[in-house]
Amino acid sequence: MSPLCRLNGIGIYVPDKILSNHDLEKIIDTSDEWITVRTGIKRRRKAAPGQNTSDLALMACRNLFSNARLGIAPNDITHIIFASITPDSICPSTACNLSAKLGIPHVPALDFNAACSGFLYGLMLANGLVAAQPDAKVLLVAADILTSRVNWEDRGTCVLFGDGAGATVVTNHAAGRGEQDFSATLEDLSVGADSQGGPCLTAGIGGNTSAPYKLGDRVTENFFIQMDGREVFKHAVRNMSAASAGMLERNNVTIDSLECLIPHQANARILEAVAKKLNIPDDKLFINVQEYGNTSAVSLLIAMHDAYAQKRLSKGNKTLLTTFGAGFTWGSALLAIE
Ligand SMILES: CC(C)(COP(=O)(O)OP(=O)(O)OC[C@H]1O[C@@H](n2cnc3c(N)ncnc32)[C@H](O)[C@@H]1OP(=O)(O)O)[C@@H](O)C(=O)NCCC(=O)NCCS
Repeated sequence: MSPLCRLNGIGIYVPDKILSNHDLEKIIDTSDEWITVRTGIKRRRKAAPGQNTSDLALMACRNLFSNARLGIAPNDITHIIFASITPDSICPSTACNLSAKLGIPHVPALDFNAACSGFLYGLMLANGLVAAQPDAKVLLVAADILTSRVNWEDRGTCVLFGDGAGATVVTNHAAGRGEQDFSATLEDLSVGADSQGGPCLTAGIGGNTSAPYKLGDRVTENFFIQMDGREVFKHAVRNMSAASAGMLERNNVTIDSLECLIPHQANARILEAVAKKLNIPDDKLFINVQEYGNTSAVSLLIAMHDAYAQKRLSKGNKTLLTTFGAGFTWGSALLAIE
């Protein structure tokens, strides 16, 4: 199969503030032991007061473009597509806010929402853009401040999430590899959905469109992330495993020839269950959820960035990405590292 498109560089940013499990013990009825055993998470980052989602994204983009060897500057960007479930506002879009902050206000820019599957859904959109317009340079960004949308009185959800941002530039594979450190071609991609799972993981927008908030209404629980953890767990394992198995089979990739499996960093137990179902050994499974918690659509970008820095992704080898999120949405992608 010929490659679909190229990912050029990865820039990430996480806020300075670290919220450890021991910090959480002081604000809710939980323990480091419970969180560690059930999720593998030890700490997560929290945006500073006044920091917006587009601010986090801007820092990730600066880190991406500051690598001189990338050979792509903000002025070269032709489109911005932005995955987030915690946008700065409903309008203007966070993508437009980012384009202003990057000094490229005339670049077409839009937000989209595929929850934690945002990065792979974004690759699908970016791939379509570069197929239609081969000289396109698509800035694919994911950023979320999920700590702003958790109910800090719900211990079943508030311990799980963290804040962060990531970005890459997607180009046509025929455009050629630049001098940047990280470069990969997208060999294959599939995404899926089952909207019957919608009620299992929700966050409102302030009332809802059929019963909108009026001035002075109080915020209710519906505004925050609500989750049926056990159902989500089951479907996450099932769908990430099936999507990954299908991806490997379709591309004749054996476990032996696969260098690394990078799943969406939701929960270490979910990731280990997926790897076990696929017969992928522990040393090929990349996990960094202990450091950041679940950062939604950003998690694959942070994980790829860290895996590359730790020399877990090497030239000529194949990496499998897989994801799962609210909706339900999921996906899988095969990368060839250049
Ligand atoms: C959330 C999750 C960790 C909960 O683990 P679980 O084993 O299913 O736990 P349960 O929700 O059944 O709760 C078990 C007990 O722990 C308690 N508990 C829940 N959160 C707790 C916390 N943070 N600290 C201490 N106890 C907690 C519950 O109240 C319950 O107590 P009870 O038995 O006295 O009623 C797990 O369901 C999960 O990881 N789900 C997937 C979440 C996810 O990844 N979502 C995003 C996907 S993109």
